[in-house]
Amino acid sequence: MSVTVFVPRDSSAISLGADTVAREIASQAIRNGCAVRLVRNGSRGLAWLEPMVEVQTPEGRIAYGPVTPADVASLFDAEFLHGAPHRLRLGKPEDHPYLAKQERLTFARVGVIDPLSIDDYRAYGGFVGLEKAIHRGGAEIVKAVTDSGLRGRGGAAFPAGIKWNTVLNTPADLKYIVCNADEGDSGTFSDRMLMEGDPFMLIEGMAIAAHAVGARKGYIYVRSEYPYAEATLREAIRIATAAGFLDHFELGVRRGAGAYICGEETALLESLEGKRGIVRFKPPVPAIVGLFGKPTVVNNVITFAAIPTILAEGAEYYKNYGMGRSRGTLPFQLAGNIKHGGLVEKAFGVTLRELLYDYGGGSRSGRPIRAVQVGGPLGAYLPESQFDTPLDYESFAAIGAMVGHGGIVAFDDTVDMAKMARYAMEFCAIESCGKCTPCRIGSTRGVEVIDKIIAGRDAEGGPQVNDREKNLALLRDLNETMLAGSLCAMGGMTPFPVMSALKHFEKDFTHA
Ligand SMILES: Cc1cc2nc3c(=O)[nH]c(=O)nc-3n(C[C@H](O)[C@H](O)[C@H](O)COP(=O)(O)O)c2cc1C
Ligand code: SF4
Repeated sequence: MSVTVFVPRDSSAISLGADTVAREIASQAIRNGCAVRLVRNGSRGLAWLEPMVEVQTPEGRIAYGPVTPADVASLFDAEFLHGAPHRLRLGKPEDHPYLAKQERLTFARVGVIDPLSIDDYRAYGGFVGLEKAIHRGGAEIVKAVTDSGLRGRGGAAFPAGIKWNTVLNTPADLKYIVCNADEGDSGTFSDRMLMEGDPFMLIEGMAIAAHAVGARKGYIYVRSEYPYAEATLREAIRIATAAGFLDHFELGVRRGAGAYICGEETALLESLEGKRGIVRFKPPVPAIVGLFGKPTVVNNVITFAAIPTILAEGAEYYKNYGMGRSRGTLPFQLAGNIKHGGLVEKAFGVTLRELLYDYGGGSRSGRPIRAVQVGGPLGAYLPESQFDTPLDYESFAAIGAMVGHGGIVAFDDTVDMAKMARYAMEFCAIESCGKCTPCRIGSTRGVEVIDKIIAGRDAEGGPQVNDREKNLALLRDLNETMLAGSLCAMGGMTPFPVMSALKHFEKDFTHA
């Protein structure tokens, strides 16, 4: 009888040598006369332990990691196929402290199943939500989504049920479902992990949305930097179609071209229509005039992926997780200078400190964590004094920060926050779509002013006259203009990282 061995096919594991490890396991199995069935699963999200190899034993799955190709021979010698001791043995993955305390609803199957096995998907509760939805009317499904309290996971946290209800109630000959898989925020990778590790869940969520609002066509807009996710999705759609799960819903994949602004939903729709990604004026909102002028549901990958659980388990079940108006769970992503980077799905309400220290283990460098950016490149920088703020949309908004897509990037005490503020402005200058002046011109002027502050030059650019207060006033004024006068959050939120850096780390802006 063959032993099942799991080697992740997730990009992060592949980048750390998982493909070579898989090949080495296959050849060592032949050399040792062992029958091995290799399954390429998704990642469990313990990035520092990748490639994390698991073996199916009668006692359950036993993990080993991080495994290099050079370790494989010694794993066979130690009889890892029976779960035997080895210096890389981690025990049962579900007992690992990083995983044991998580609340995995959306990521429950990721790392567990073969992402392209529809039988595996079904065996672990897949398509139950869709099967229940098929027997319900659109309004009933939308009500369940509304009752669950689910808000968009792409960044803006808009209630999904309200958006779906608008599309449902807008008469049209054609409606679309569009999945935003552009995932451009710094330090984020949950969309990618979900698409690579459990693509049927996204497909199921989109199929439920289509049934609910009466759409027959949909697209997943994937960033070009995600070739494995794109390939996995294409194959999963082919399999789901052949199995009859997409009979009334035609789903396609479209590849972006590397522009951050194409993650903004209206620029994304322009790009999907084959045009340059420029932000549209709102209103009308895409739910009324969206793709090719038709009512369109645009949601993030994690928003759609939350839907099957809501339909299968009920709105109450999902709503019971979380705090305040932030219901359910969010897959937080730990990145930057952090010892144990990876994915932690928790109910809203967990604090930054818990994530950074209980899960992340502190900084990778061993130095104190000085600043954390939450919510991507437009998110504020938080100092240590704010690490106890619960991660929910309202608590973060109250301190001028945002949860966004749940990306958390840590910096130790060697970080220069003036440089980080400059970087935020420069990022905006590079990625601006150019439609409005405060963002297009303001960000370039912002970089110049920050340069002057750092260099200690006067406001007109003359050399070495420390006109600090005048420059700071200019920077504040510029940020106010960008905040108030930008069409979208690109220009409208760039002031958040800049001003939070200035507020909490002002001494970094003092030139030597
Ligand atoms: C500059 C900018 C970039 C954005 N990038 C993304 C992105 O990469 N992925 C995403 O899901 N939403 C992104 N958004 C948010 C989308 O505009 C939109 O709110 C989201 O797709 C709606 O889905 P949701 O309600 O499920 O979050 C971005 C917004 C802005 C202003
Ligand atoms: S704020 Fe910037 S990115 Fe947004 S519409 Fe204006 S120019 Fe374009």
